[in-house]
Amino acid sequence: MKIVMLGAPGAGKGTQAQMLAKKYDIPHVSTGDIFRMNIKNGTELGLEAKKYMDQGLLVPDELTVRILLDRVAKDDCKNGYVLDGFPRTIPQANVLEDALTKLGDKIDYAINVDVPDENIIRRMGGRRACLACGATYHIEHVPPKKEGICDKCGQELVLRDDDKPETVKNRLQVYKEQTQPLIDFYTERGVLHNVDGTKDMNEVFEAIVAILN
Ligand code: AP5
Ligand code: MG
Repeated sequence: MKIVMLGAPGAGKGTQAQMLAKKYDIPHVSTGDIFRMNIKNGTELGLEAKKYMDQGLLVPDELTVRILLDRVAKDDCKNGYVLDGFPRTIPQANVLEDALTKLGDKIDYAINVDVPDENIIRRMGGRRACLACGATYHIEHVPPKKEGICDKCGQELVLRDDDKPETVKNRLQVYKEQTQPLIDFYTERGVLHNVDGTKDMNEVFEAIVAILN
């Protein structure tokens, strides 16, 4: 099963993608997490990506596509995956589609997690992320067991650099211009499903599972 998660920054794509990956035993592939891991480790890729991410801009398609195609070519992706944060532009979606078509394959579901802007700004300020394993928390809605420490791997939780209010506004703008057109792209392919992302995360999850079943 190949799933694409769509939605504005902070809509809960990552939260739901992790839950789906666990339930269906497929990898959660987040380009954002891959970039953040590289930034943390000081790699060349990380340095390049950071220039864009800190401004709320997209990392250039060429670089992003290469990383994504490498990742989904790995053995653990054979039975499917859940993509979170990719594709984010029409050219990225086309490259992915072409690569899958060559393998006689396709995206089975595109899940659009729908959340209005007002809720987004509130969610981002409270988010805490683990840069080591990609787990996401919220200081009110999803607190870790021990303040500031990841439940899953014990590393320190941080406020993402791009979660500052000014950067969040840019990210929303970029989302509207470059990523929202993907809703039409996947609607045309007959695989788009909308879920109400303002509900409690377990209710959102149930709605997605109902679609996949
Ligand atoms: P990326 O990491 O993908 O960020 P994003 O799309 O901006 O999305 P977020 O991770 O911020 O939000 P999310 O939807 O995953 O929400 P979450 O589950 O955390 O990308 C970051 C940057 O990397 C981009 O700006 C770009 O520069 C670059 N990049 C990445 N991919 C790229 C690509 N393909 N092309 C080019 N550039 C790329 O939830 C948010 C918060 O809300 C959390 O605190 C969570 O606990 C809480 N929450 C979740 N669900 C609920 C709920 N139902 N109710 C209450 N709270 C909830
Ligand atoms: Mg995310």
